[in-house]
Amino acid sequence: MIKIKVPATSANLGPGFDALGLALTLYNEVWMEECDTVDIAAVDDTVIPTGTDNMIFQNARHLYELCGRPFCGLKVRQKNGIPMTRGLGSSSACIVAGLLGANALLGEPMERQELLSIAAHMEGHPDNIAPAILGGLVTSVMEGGQVYSVSVPVSDQIQFAVMIPPFEIKTEFARGILPGSLSRADAVFNLSRAALMTAALFSGRMENLKVAVQDRIHQPYRLGLIPGMREAFDAAYDLGAYGVYLSGAGPTIVGVIDARESKEDFACKLSSGLEQRGIKGWKVLVLD
Ligand code: HSE
Repeated sequence: MIKIKVPATSANLGPGFDALGLALTLYNEVWMEECDTVDIAAVDDTVIPTGTDNMIFQNARHLYELCGRPFCGLKVRQKNGIPMTRGLGSSSACIVAGLLGANALLGEPMERQELLSIAAHMEGHPDNIAPAILGGLVTSVMEGGQVYSVSVPVSDQIQFAVMIPPFEIKTEFARGILPGSLSRADAVFNLSRAALMTAALFSGRMENLKVAVQDRIHQPYRLGLIPGMREAFDAAYDLGAYGVYLSGAGPTIVGVIDARESKEDFACKLSSGLEQRGIKGWKVLVLD
């Protein structure tokens, strides 16, 4: 059996709607081998589709078809570290696992760049897919069926406090509520901050982050979908976060914090901060 490990990802990073994303140290693990039936199961207690509607299966079969190779069936075992439908790239992780797994089983016929374009096409936007495949902090553009992207490391002076609510948000719904156009002033507002965010996360120039995370494309509109979002921002800023943003389409909120903070202590303090504000049942993880 081959094994594939795919990271959770956080997209948008505030102003970089559909363009920026980064990989986090939280993973899904998938084991895969060819067989003549559909044999899919979780090796933990998460509930997953075990038929041909399983996303990993579908994407693996898609790659076989693209490569013109016969497909009889697949044995898949999944261990899901990434919470589903929470804005941490769980669907991208399934697409990427299916494509990377099939590519390995087929003897690596596709280059990473080709897989990136296929995966982004499946997802519709590249901001989770690109860091799931390339790792690091990634800026990407989809153009003419291809993805143009650059991955750079996140500064080692930074880590991420990830606040995961106990409810789901469907990305499609959270996209549907956004306005279809914006003013030139708002476009410039986001463009300048997306560039600053990328440079600040790469260089570790943290003094820029509080301004760099601001956004006028999606966060103000999604605030109404996420009870506790404002309190989560306040709790993280009160504990000294450099910047706080909504991860992907939400509902997870991410605080960018100093890497010297103890992961366990900070997670504990932030959980208490949320509870003091009446926000219950959220899970807090501190990740690189
Ligand atoms: N960029 C997407 C959105 C999220 O904000 O709708 C990525 O899944």
